[in-house]
Order: sequence, then structure tokens, then C-alpha cells
Amino acid sequence: MRILGIETSCDETSVAIIRNYDNRSFVIEKSLIASQAAKHAEYGGVVPEVAARCHVDVVFPLLEAAGVPRDGSGVDAIAVTAGPGLVPALRIGVEVAKTLSWIWKKPLVAVNHMEGHIGSAFLHSSPQGEDYRRGIEFPAVCLLVSGGHTELLLMKNFCEYELLGRTRDDAAGEAFDKVAKLLGLSYPGGPEISKQALQGKRDLINFPRPMMTDPKDLDFSFSGLKTAVAVYLHNQPLPALEEGAEGGSSVADICASFEQAAIDVLVEKTRRAVEQNNPKSIIVSGGVSANSFLREEMKNNFAPLPVFFPPLEFTGDNAAMIAVAGAWRASRKDFTDPLKLEADPNMRLV
Ligand code: KG4
Ligand code: ZN
Repeated sequence: MRILGIETSCDETSVAIIRNYDNRSFVIEKSLIASQAAKHAEYGGVVPEVAARCHVDVVFPLLEAAGVPRDGSGVDAIAVTAGPGLVPALRIGVEVAKTLSWIWKKPLVAVNHMEGHIGSAFLHSSPQGEDYRRGIEFPAVCLLVSGGHTELLLMKNFCEYELLGRTRDDAAGEAFDKVAKLLGLSYPGGPEISKQALQGKRDLINFPRPMMTDPKDLDFSFSGLKTAVAVYLHNQPLPALEEGAEGGSSVADICASFEQAAIDVLVEKTRRAVEQNNPKSIIVSGGVSANSFLREEMKNNFAPLPVFFPPLEFTGDNAAMIAVAGAWRASRKDFTDPLKLEADPNMRLV
């Protein structure tokens, strides 16, 4: 079937058309992502109302640019992110998808954004190639690490999940963004920190690894780690850092030590989830899965267990992954009434 995906949950407007034969093989016919990151950088974070206005401006031009026929011909279903996310932003995609579904008389699938991130690991970066079927076997332990969420899930089959652990406060990406802000780095902070970290000493500052004492616990907490960086900076303010005082630490060292602490926790919690559930694969997805050090550490720590990441271009928010989850739901005839669908900022997968 051919699925039109629409994603507007945060600060990316995205439209994609994918074709699939089953739940594992997807051909990406079109994938367009319009990022608003530069707009929000002025504010140091995403402003919901600004995000919604930008989505309104670009969603129809994107549909047009993607070559979506105006009469919907060739489209078998429409998949849209219904939550979680920012309500004003979500509503734009949801209302556009409802309208198209109503006018075209095509089935509508309400997709959970986090299931979309899981779906991104099933995408292949060279869709026209022969080998676009990824060998993810179930059960799979999924580590979802984004700007709004940090969760460990057990994926037992398509659309069947068990929640193993989640963050009790900040998400991993949020911690990267907040620490970057403390250091005066630009938004979004994750890529900036990981770039800086390449030049720094990872073992110079022993930042805390929160929630590690109970060996069975699979929950996360990142706000204490962010506070530890804030306290460190309070005691050793940035101007001194910039002068690169002899024996002191640089911004790069702080980034490297913070990144090591955050990733140690992600790896250790995943190790526990693996020990407790004996999976056949691991999936790591969400914006933070773009982090090269996380990718390396996950591969090194879990070999020979295969670890699957989305192709880099699909780690952030995108509509192709929403269409993948939409295809899974469509195969179960899990459709929604276009007159009734509402954006749900707190939509839960489990
Ligand atoms: O999945 P995503 O695009 O949006 C949400 O659903 O939240 O994730 C965005 C998050 C941001 O917090 C961003 O800083 C983080 O992913 N991120 C990274 C990297 N690239 C993006 N974090 C660490 N290292 C990176 N290379
Ligand atoms: Zn996301």
C-alpha cells in the first residue's frame, strides 16, 4: 500500500510518501522535512505558538512539493502524528490529515509519535537499493531517546509493547539541550555537545550517574545530572573556562564528561533491560540516537546482539517514520474517524 505521512508534533514540518508490501519492507518515494530549528534558536527552545504558525505556512507547500496528487489518487491511507507533542503544533498536522481523509474518502491512521520513532529503525537510507529489509527480530528492547522522551520498551511484535522504564523528570535530549544552554552553545544542544565532546576529556569530571543503585530499576532521571553541571559551572564560571586556565577544564571537557555520564546511564539501563528480557535485537531511536558516541558504545557493549539505529537522516522528527507506524496500524485496520480525531499531547503507547 501507499501511505501519506504527516508530522507536525514539534518543530519539524514533514511530509512523506512510502510504499510497503509488508511490515518490514518500505520504499520511501518522497520524504521532505522543513526544520524550524533556526527560528526557535532565538528563544533557546521551541515556542509552541511559533511552531504552529510555521507549520501552517509550510504544510501545503510541502504536500505540493512532495507531488501528492490533489485528488489523493494513489494514496491508500493517511498517517498523522496525533501525539504526544505540543498541542498547537500537533493540531496543524491533525487537521490537515482529517481534511484530506474526509475529502478523499481515504482511511486515516492516528500515529503515536514514539511508535513512529521505533518505525524509523525499519527505514533504509538507500530505499531504491535491493537490501531495504532490516533484520530486526522480536522481542526487541527499544531505547527511545528524544527531546521529550526517554523510555525503554519491549517490542514483542508490531504494535505490541511493554513499558520497561521511563524518565522520571527530564528526557535525555532535554538534558543535552539544557546543558548546552548553560554552556552558551546554540539550540538544539545535542549536536553541539557531541561536536565539542570530540575534543574533550571524558574522564576529567566525575558527573553523577543517577538512578544506578537499585540493579533492577529501569527508570531514568536526568535533571540531577543537568544540575550537577550547573553547580560545576557555578564554582568554575565560564570566563575562567574560556581563558583555558592551566589545569582547569574547557567547555569541551565539560561536554565530554557530561556526555560520558549521560551515555553510561543509557547503556547500563539498556543492559539491565536486556538481561531481564533476553531480546533478539536492540533498537535505539529518537533524536539522540544521532549521537555518534552513543552509537559506538551501544555497538561495543551489546555485540553480538544486533543493535539497530535509524539512518541518520531519520533520527530526528520526520513523516517517513510516521508512515511506517501508520502502515503497521493500517495492516490491523486500526483506523480513526476523521470527524472525531483530536490531537492528544499526552498520548501513551502502552
Ligand atoms: O526526536 P527529536 O528530533 O524530537 C523529539 O521528539 O523530541 O529529538 C530532538 C532531540 C534534541 O533534544 C536534540 O538536542 C537531540 O535530540 N539530539 C542529540 C543529537 N542530535 C539531536 N542529542 C545528542 N547528540 C546528538 N548528536
Ligand atoms: Zn521525536
